[in-house]
Amino acid sequence: MIRPLCSMRLTVHGGAFAALLTLGSAALAAAPGAEPAEFHGVNVARGQQFYTELQCASCHAQRMMGQAAAMYTRSDRKVHNARQLLAFTQMCVTQLNHELFPDEVRDIAAYLNQTYYHFK
Ligand code: HEC
Repeated sequence: MIRPLCSMRLTVHGGAFAALLTLGSAALAAAPGAEPAEFHGVNVARGQQFYTELQCASCHAQRMMGQAAAMYTRSDRKVHNARQLLAFTQMCVTQLNHELFPDEVRDIAAYLNQTYYHFK
C-alpha cells in the first residue's frame, strides 16, 4: 500500500518536498510516507531488510537486557532528531565494519524513524 506512493514521491522529488513544506503537520501525519527532509525518497522496506540482515537488534538487545527496541525508546536515548538518527545509524554501521552506500544508511535510519522515533 505504501509502495506506489513512495515511488510516486520519488518521481516528483522537488515538487513533493515543496508541497510537504507548505502542508500542515496534520497532512504530514496523514501521509503514510511522511518523513523529515533527511529521509526524503528513502526505501523503508529496504532499510528494514538491512536492519534484519545486519542484525542490529541483537547487539542492542545484549545491551538493553534483551529489549532491543529499548535502545530507541529509553528516556536517555542519544538521538533527538533526524540528523542525529542518521549520524548514529552511520556510526553503528561503521562499527559493524560493514560498508553501505549513504542512501542505504538513510534507508535504515528512515526505517528506525518510522518504527520508533517518529521525527517529522
Ligand atoms: C556491536 C554492537 C552494535 C551493533 C551491531 C549495532 N549497534 Fe547501534 N548501538 C550500539 C550501542 C552500544 C548503542 C548505544 C550507544 C550510546 O548509548 O552511546 C547504540 C545505539 C544506536 C542508536 C541510537 C539509539 C539512541 O540512543 O537513540 C541507533 C540509531 C543505532 N544504534 C542504530 C544501529 C543500527 C541501524 C545498527 C545496524 C546496522 C546497529 N545500531 C548495530 C551498539 C551496536
